[in-house]
Amino acid sequence: MYRTAYCAEFSAKDIGKTVKVCGWVQKQRDLGSLIFIDLRDRTGIVQLAFDENTDKALFDLAFSTRAEFVCAAEGKVRPRGEGAVNKNLPTGEIEIEVTNFEILSPSATPPFEITENSDVKVETRLKYRYLDLRRPDMQRNILVRHQIVKSARDYFSDNGFLEIETPVLIKSTPEGARDYLVPSRVHPGSFYALPQSPQLYKQLLMLSGFDRYMQVAKCFRDEDLRADRQPEFTQLDLEMSFVDQDDIIGINEGFLKKIFKEFLNIDLELPLRRIPYAEAMERYGSDKPDTRFGMELCDISDCVRGCGFKVFAGVIADGGSVRAINVKGGAAHFSRKEIDKLTDLVKTFKAGGLAWAKSGEELSSSYAKFLTEQENSAIYSKTGFEKGDLLLIVADRKNKVVFDALGALRCEVAKLLGLCKPGDYQLLWVTDFPMFEYNEDEGRYTAMHHPFTAPRDEDLEYLESDPARVCAKAYDIVLNGTEVGGGSVRIHRSDVQARVFRAIGLSEEEAQKKFGYLLNAFRYGAPPHAGLAFGLDRLVSLILGLDGIRDVIAFPKVKDASELMTECPAPVDKKLLDEIYIEVKESDK
Ligand code: AMO
Repeated sequence: MYRTAYCAEFSAKDIGKTVKVCGWVQKQRDLGSLIFIDLRDRTGIVQLAFDENTDKALFDLAFSTRAEFVCAAEGKVRPRGEGAVNKNLPTGEIEIEVTNFEILSPSATPPFEITENSDVKVETRLKYRYLDLRRPDMQRNILVRHQIVKSARDYFSDNGFLEIETPVLIKSTPEGARDYLVPSRVHPGSFYALPQSPQLYKQLLMLSGFDRYMQVAKCFRDEDLRADRQPEFTQLDLEMSFVDQDDIIGINEGFLKKIFKEFLNIDLELPLRRIPYAEAMERYGSDKPDTRFGMELCDISDCVRGCGFKVFAGVIADGGSVRAINVKGGAAHFSRKEIDKLTDLVKTFKAGGLAWAKSGEELSSSYAKFLTEQENSAIYSKTGFEKGDLLLIVADRKNKVVFDALGALRCEVAKLLGLCKPGDYQLLWVTDFPMFEYNEDEGRYTAMHHPFTAPRDEDLEYLESDPARVCAKAYDIVLNGTEVGGGSVRIHRSDVQARVFRAIGLSEEEAQKKFGYLLNAFRYGAPPHAGLAFGLDRLVSLILGLDGIRDVIAFPKVKDASELMTECPAPVDKKLLDEIYIEVKESDK
């Protein structure tokens, strides 16, 4: 046995006991006749003491240790000497007087020091991720992730859910993001896809009668990386039969209440707030509104309809809108240069520009001179614009552009002004999503969530005549402006499913080819069912107060979807490619 307890578990209560510990050398201090080694494991640090009473060979061994050597020690716990007590360490009152000591494994000099929150370059951290993971903050992240997963398993199991694994080599379903493909050796020219989610399998499990399913599921999506997006990530996935939207929301609110209490000591007030999609867009310009701050969007189209400023009047005449956010007290914080930066931001959302008015010492504005006094005052009174404020305006003939641009601007301004306080957690459901969105490139409607989502009963009649007005029984759970989960009530009647496929331009033949197995299964008694999946990585990172999901994943990928430590993806031998009938075009290498 290498240890009687973990390093940080020793305290004054152990004084006089003979104990064993093992771990990595955090620091060795040589004071001539005294040597101290801070020994570290995943719990923390304990001090080993070597002095004139220590066996000479052991003393010399201690002298030869360096940072990150792996060592084992045996000795007696004793109080630290006068003045050597460290109140910042749980083990700060004691040390181990070493009677036996062994170097189990030496270490090369590490590329960076293993300390909390060190500001080492991300690339270096990821190249040596196994060392990076030794850092106390990373150890804590991984531990909390484990505890949240355990808590989820306990909660759902206690509520009658069975954890069932679904396959990872599946049939490609070209809806949603791009699939990762796996060539088949046995079936030349055929491919598996890695699952973007266990969606169809969990629905089939409902047909099989497992009426409460959950899984901690690895998902794969070949899409561009962002701070909260990895090509492989984990869902906390669930599905239930004989339920409606309120049941799914209820069971998941119970789960959220449990983990918020356990991990943040926050008593969530239930039920959580629900905002219909249309209202979320109208007020926050986003289907994942961050409600930790105000700065709501204000539609000022009526104030400038038919005005002399062509940009405003033109977009309204084209069926678009002019909307603003009023940054209260913002005039002092944003110079022209900084407003230019905000303009660049809105342009990335395809907005033509950013109109602004600033009420500093005097009023300055990019557009006010083109409007009448009445029009200007109408804008000021509608937006509550007063001395000291900054008004930011986007006009576009597409409302989506206005919403996207102002939605992002609102969050950026809040970030720059530090409006989000640590420890403020705003959770809400967004409901009543549109069933379809129009894809201009493809000239057809596509399913906004996925095509197995049920339309609202009251909207069924518009499936053919006016698909744009059909809302879905879909819901997202949003935490501080991040979508941490989403789900829907599913279609369980084949006639409705056929109508939805038709609405997204999928012929019966194509539907059969893609989802024939599902449609066939639905002929054999499908219970009403609904479900939801949390993005586990996102949930854990927000609970830990981290900016992105990278540091709650032990071995994440970087922006170009590669992994810096193993350097994958990587070319493979031609022989392996031959076996799976794959030839790489020279020009593509
Ligand atoms: P959806 O596509 O909304 O729904 O995914 C569910 C949740 O997974 C998280 N997520 C991601 N996290 C990290 N990296 C990614 N690339 C990534 N993509 C998604 C988000 C998201 O809310 N089958 C449905 C769920 C259902 O209907 O039951 C689904 O996959 O937090």
